[in-house]
Amino acid sequence: MFERENAEMLARAAAKLEEGFAELPEFAANMSGAERIGEVLSLTAERLQNNYPYFHPLYAGQMLKPPHPVARLAYALAMHINPNNHALDGGRATSAMEKEVVREIAAMFGWQSCLGHLCGGGTMANLEALWVAGHLRRGKTILASEQAHYTHKRISGVLQMHCEAVVCDALGRMDLNALQQRLEQGDVGTVVATLGTTATGSVDPLPEILRLREKYGFRVHADAAYGGYFALVNNVDAAAAQAFARIAEVDSIVIDPHKHGLQPYGCGCVLFRDPAVGRLYKHDSPYTYFSSTELHLGEISLECSRPGAAAAALWATQKLLPLVKDGEFARALSRSRDAALALYRRAQQSKHFVTAFAPQLDIVIFAQRAASATESSALARRIFDAAARHDLHLAIAELPAKFWSETHGAMRLDRETITCLRSVLMKPEHLDWVDRIWERLEVAAAEVLHGAAQAR
Ligand SMILES: Cc1ncc(COP(=O)(O)O)c(C=O)c1O
Repeated sequence: MFERENAEMLARAAAKLEEGFAELPEFAANMSGAERIGEVLSLTAERLQNNYPYFHPLYAGQMLKPPHPVARLAYALAMHINPNNHALDGGRATSAMEKEVVREIAAMFGWQSCLGHLCGGGTMANLEALWVAGHLRRGKTILASEQAHYTHKRISGVLQMHCEAVVCDALGRMDLNALQQRLEQGDVGTVVATLGTTATGSVDPLPEILRLREKYGFRVHADAAYGGYFALVNNVDAAAAQAFARIAEVDSIVIDPHKHGLQPYGCGCVLFRDPAVGRLYKHDSPYTYFSSTELHLGEISLECSRPGAAAAALWATQKLLPLVKDGEFARALSRSRDAALALYRRAQQSKHFVTAFAPQLDIVIFAQRAASATESSALARRIFDAAARHDLHLAIAELPAKFWSETHGAMRLDRETITCLRSVLMKPEHLDWVDRIWERLEVAAAEVLHGAAQAR
């Protein structure tokens, strides 16, 4: 199921790669343990069986998306070279590929000239964005919504910068009144707008944040680690579309190709609108940067060694599926969005669940219907376990009860948060599986409720 055809394509491509080095004298690789590789690989496969089936549509839990086969193959191909994109000395071809893919990602956001590079992931990318923000707004506070990824608070700690949370509204977006009140107090250097929160896929109101920037003069950093690729699709909700339409006006953007960009883990990206921020990275290296006067990516990134294979994988993916509005890549992504809407409608009609708000991207949350938030929260964990016994894997989230303020009906909101079920419908196949996902979930919920009724 996984690799048979791909293995042949990889072997052909590896032979092609080898042709480029045909002039070199042959040598016998001195590889210890070669005769036992098959045996150890089989043991490895056995160990890897102990995972949720992330590749299957019945895995509809956390933000996990299988890489495209072309990405896996290009990554594996590049591993025959194992290039290091720190310096051109270590990865000439893949550094050029990285510069190309980063230009294409920037163009997706409407930027023609900017500074950017790949990195280990969203955390590292946001760290660089906040590090630059800290240099340009020394000693000033960073604001991010209470639903922003926790990484902003942690990173600010690492950078010894002050970070404050701005409360969210009932839709999980940064509350503009709360933001303005905090801005009035002064001392704010940067506002992080999350375009697609991790828990609910809510999109902060970027147009209004940009309007406040005119008055208060802060930097705007867009954390679009998860949501960024939705800039290409034509079926997100109107408020999200308006936010993506203005993204070119922010100062820095983070997007994770290893989330919706079909890449293996280890592929984040940070972009700065003003290429002049490159001066902040300036350093010399006594070991590298000798082979060329062209830009070495290590001169504009904080990480040193980085996998050139990640750039090769992304380059191959973007060649196959260019980042164009309503193109093949975008259409596949829009299926995730449709799947989320379909699941949301199912949950809305269900006697077992209470939805919060309509999804803006492809994440759906729903709580178990119960007499109180406390009871609902306890049941959610049990339904999560019961669903897993039916091979359906969802996620659990602890979210503000105010998200259900419009919909809770007779359910008493007796605690500040509700433990609810959460589903990230990241795979294009999810659209065809919504009915089967829902059937299993209803069966799991009925089993748990039946058990709870008998225990009373
Ligand atoms: C909005 C957002 N920002 C940052 C991150 C952190 O990214 P990473 O896990 O790649 O470090 C995530 C991860 O889910 C995210 O959703």
